[in-house]
Amino acid sequence: MKRVAVLTSGGDAPGMNAAIRAVVRSGVLHSCEMFGVRNGYEGLIAGDFLPLGPRDVGGIIHQGGTMLGTSRCPQFKTGEGQSAALEQLRRRDINALIVIGGNGSQSGAYALTQRGMNVLGVASTIDNDLLGTDVSIGTTTALDTAMEAIDRLRVTAASHRRVFLVEVMGRHSGYLAAVVAIAGGAEAIVVPELDLPPEAIARQLQASHQRGKSHAIVVVAEGARYGVDALSSYFRDQRQQLGLDLRITRLGHVQRGGAPGVYDRMLATRLGAAAIEALLAAENGVLVGLRSGAIAMTPLSEVAGRTAPLDLQLLELAQGLAT
Ligand code: ADP
Ligand code: F6P
Repeated sequence: MKRVAVLTSGGDAPGMNAAIRAVVRSGVLHSCEMFGVRNGYEGLIAGDFLPLGPRDVGGIIHQGGTMLGTSRCPQFKTGEGQSAALEQLRRRDINALIVIGGNGSQSGAYALTQRGMNVLGVASTIDNDLLGTDVSIGTTTALDTAMEAIDRLRVTAASHRRVFLVEVMGRHSGYLAAVVAIAGGAEAIVVPELDLPPEAIARQLQASHQRGKSHAIVVVAEGARYGVDALSSYFRDQRQQLGLDLRITRLGHVQRGGAPGVYDRMLATRLGAAAIEALLAAENGVLVGLRSGAIAMTPLSEVAGRTAPLDLQLLELAQGLAT
């Protein structure tokens, strides 16, 4: 009988619980003995395991966050940390590990496969910057959350004829920013992939004002070179010339909370179940994701340490339609 452990790692994402549930129940269905690891790689190193059966993962499909907990664990990036984690797995006779998480987590998963462990990754991050999947668990719900906030901000922005700088998550990726800018009808967008200086944004806002727009929403990814702080200090210095009444809203971790929507529950369920099936089909060292609507396996060697590039056509679309 296979003994399989599952953990969630990195930034939590809505739908991680649905993925844990699918992994555990599919595993049991296929006669595996299932274990959870608390708090990601931190718990793996510390040996914080718990047996999981179908009833233990009841009542979580609709909950955001992760019942197992998660962590950022610098120690796991070291050879000693990884050896300690492998020793904990070996001691419990666990022959496979399923890692639900984003880029960094899948790099960690790859490191374990290189040291002989059987590991499968499940794509989950609100940033949607993983290679090997069109969409990751949590992205769609985070987008909905950010979009709803932008809709609300537009109401007050319009009433006061103000400019709102809205910071969304995405340390290295402008995907969230690009999609919510399009879906929220933003007047301007600032992403890490394109270094737009504050003057360029000011010009866009002035042009939009001249076209008759009384207010504006600027979506700014947190990782952009000229982020909300740089923009607001530029606009403050140029206040007389620009005549903009400016406000800042940082959506921050609000985007990570919240109940997963139907898309993320379905995606998490499909990917979680597919990870168990892949395991039983003797797959090893792959990321389970979704491409063109179908389950896709991508070697972790191709995923680790890399990020999916932003589709620059999204930026063109956002800018082109903000007329
Ligand atoms: P995410 O998985 O959401 O991208 P992080 O980048 O914080 O989040 O990664 C989560 C964890 O994965 C890190 O805290 C670390 O323990 C592990 N990790 C990240 N990068 C590596 C790496 N190159 N090698 C080994 N482990 C890594
Ligand atoms: O990786 C997902 C993410 O939400 C990024 O968008 C963001 O930069 C980061 O996590 C925030 O991390 P933390 O929760 O550790 O502050």
